[in-house]
Amino acid sequence: MKNKQKKIGIVGLGCYVPKKVLTNKDLEGMVDTSDEWITTRTGIKERRIAANNESTSTLAANAAHEALKNAKMKPEDLDLVIVATITPDMPFPATSCLVQDQLKAKNAACFDVSAACAGFVYGLVMAQQFLANGVYKNALVIGSEKLSCVTDWKDRNTCVLFGDGAGAAVLAPVEDGGILGSYLGSNGSLSDLLMIPAGGSKRPASKETVDNREHFIKMKGNEVFKLAVKIMSDAACNALKQCELTVDDIDCFIPHQANMRILDAVARKMHLPLDKIYFNVANYGNMSSASTAVALCEAYNAGRIKPGDVVVLDAFGAGLVWGSCVIQWQK
Ligand code: COA
Repeated sequence: MKNKQKKIGIVGLGCYVPKKVLTNKDLEGMVDTSDEWITTRTGIKERRIAANNESTSTLAANAAHEALKNAKMKPEDLDLVIVATITPDMPFPATSCLVQDQLKAKNAACFDVSAACAGFVYGLVMAQQFLANGVYKNALVIGSEKLSCVTDWKDRNTCVLFGDGAGAAVLAPVEDGGILGSYLGSNGSLSDLLMIPAGGSKRPASKETVDNREHFIKMKGNEVFKLAVKIMSDAACNALKQCELTVDDIDCFIPHQANMRILDAVARKMHLPLDKIYFNVANYGNMSSASTAVALCEAYNAGRIKPGDVVVLDAFGAGLVWGSCVIQWQK
């Protein structure tokens, strides 16, 4: 059965970040923080903030247009659109449906994935299943976030960390390479470490939830930090094991970009040279599901990914959830 499955690869990439740049210096005027603190603790220098007339779906559509152009495909050719996000335009309909409408991808089935920072990797693996089995011919997977609208701009513990953006990938059958293996996991018992407490069915919006600032991201940063290092390195090694590869086989490592110190620690734990890792956390901060998607697109555009290269995506986030995916770039 497995032998009959098609090889599925990425045949187009695109990304979009809003124009407005918010620097560490700007944040110094908003909360009790400093460029020096943010830089040494996180590696972040600046992040992008969406305009009022931009939402997760419009960021996603911008990235998707570029990915479709790159794949030389028309929107109406698309069979499936998956949007990974924790900042949907609204509770329903799905943001993917809103993106479908903006793209005029009228032949596509659409759904959203809620897997926080691992959402893009989850989306890729889900799309791969539909395509490998021949259910669909192609899929567009997007990681898109407008985290600025769920960031508490009065909380220095979190507001320095996040930013807005979107990245998109078109998947289709390829002759060689493609997604070789993947590893997904989760641990819901640790959901209290990173969450937006209110606004869902458990704590619907009320004056009390608004007054308590419960519609913003809450995080136990220190605990998340320690878990991120172990879980990200384990996830990548497990995904590599699935395809009988090792860390030495990695040509380009695209981790979730939450914090430079996490990435340094992951690299040390995996014995992975830093020059094999693509970093953009300094420019954008943590864009949740968009982080790996934008980093993959930028790494490709910068010539860091060549035909035949082994690329490993690795992400971790609220849930907790994690996912890693090994892709051999088609020749
Ligand atoms: N500016 C200045 N001081 C700050 C600050 C800021 N922006 N944010 C926190 N501090 C203070 C804290 O209040 C604390 O002060 P105190 O000792 O007087 O209480 C002090 O800095 C140290 O805080 P601590 O939480 O121990 O710092 P840290 O070294 O753990 O760094 C994070 C904090 C958030 C940068 C770090 O824990 C982290 O990156 N965690 C993971 C976050 C993440 O990646 N989440 C997403 C995963 S997908």
